[in-house]
Amino acid sequence: MADFDVAAARSKFPALQEDQVFLDNAGGSQTLGTVIEAISDYLIKSNVQFGGGYRTSQLSSSRYNAGVEAGAKFLNARKDEIAFASSATQIFRNLSLTFQFNSGDELILSSIDHEANIAAWKDLASRQRLVIRWWRPQPNTTNPILTPESLKPLLSPKTRLVACTHASNVLGTIHDIAAITAIVHSTVPGALVCVDGVAYAPHRPVDVKQLGVDFYVLSWYKVYGPHVAMLYGSRRAQEGGRMRSLGHFFNPSETLGDKVGLGSTNYELVASLPAITAYLTPPTWSSILSHESLLQTTLLTHLLSHPTRFTIFGTPDPDPLRRLPTISFGVAGWDSRELVEEIEREAPRYGVRWGAFYSYGLVREEVGLGGLGLGEGGVVRVSLVHYNTLDEVNGFIEALEDVIAKKT
Ligand SMILES: Cc1ncc(COP(=O)(O)O)c(C=O)c1O
Repeated sequence: MADFDVAAARSKFPALQEDQVFLDNAGGSQTLGTVIEAISDYLIKSNVQFGGGYRTSQLSSSRYNAGVEAGAKFLNARKDEIAFASSATQIFRNLSLTFQFNSGDELILSSIDHEANIAAWKDLASRQRLVIRWWRPQPNTTNPILTPESLKPLLSPKTRLVACTHASNVLGTIHDIAAITAIVHSTVPGALVCVDGVAYAPHRPVDVKQLGVDFYVLSWYKVYGPHVAMLYGSRRAQEGGRMRSLGHFFNPSETLGDKVGLGSTNYELVASLPAITAYLTPPTWSSILSHESLLQTTLLTHLLSHPTRFTIFGTPDPDPLRRLPTISFGVAGWDSRELVEEIEREAPRYGVRWGAFYSYGLVREEVGLGGLGLGEGGVVRVSLVHYNTLDEVNGFIEALEDVIAKKT
């Protein structure tokens, strides 16, 4: 694996000059300087409605189109398979509004997902009298994971859609989406698979064709960019009359953008996407993997070396093909909120978080149902990305130990 020049990477993010250690990257990453420049440049030089024949409008169109193209290429998709909205939550909701299923049809929802990929489908189910089948991990474990084996018994000829996450925003555990999709499509050929890739996309390249998914969602503000979210929807999923267009009756409904990207999307933000994809090239991805592997191994090794003090939630295996550096844990004798607030007082450089992170089923649900059975404080979550340094991780471990030692 290629060596990673973390100093060079950090120099590309203006916010990393601040005296703050960013350990809440699953909440939102810092933004590339080139993205900030692209947004500013768009607004200065081409901020008009695109589609017109005059020069500035043509510039606006070409910059927007370059953004759509970059977004599509990022996922190995076609331009007509991509749509944008302000947030992933919005995009799941828009997507759910396109479907008309029959009463009694079934949706399979993961119990450990972020609410964005649950609430939209629950609402659809209640409006159209659909049956929800909950896909739960094995019970009584600190390492809940969705597997093709646990999905299989839930599939039936009435299954219309399966919604799940590529990687949990709390656990960091990576799900085998290609295997999950294969089992859905081979068991119920018409069923659709909708994957929340928001937590996964900042860490590893995504190839929607290789995964075989029907829908895939990411939020660029977690992928070193601005607050705009993107939906992939395969041509297969778009065809066959399953999706109606939400657009005005006189507008085309051919592309995914026509169907779910209502009104004017965020032109200046979409136009900035080539700056992100120019940064996340294959060599960068490969060095990201090796650097993140070092970071997660360091933190997990520390937590594992004190098994009576720390409980890791998610896989304790640091293999970067099995997990991301989004690491959640509990500390014996501490409420997670109390612990994080103490770190904020004693070592405010470290921006770390406590809670359920909108994954209430996962964090709060009882262990017998595959949840973690935790109360209000939830977990302590340290979410690293490639621009974090080994010194930052070691510094955090020291700050954590200092805070714990003061109480004991
Ligand atoms: C896994 C996951 N899915 C969905 C979302 C929602 O994203 P957005 O803020 O773009 O609606 C988040 C946000 O934290 C997330 O972590």
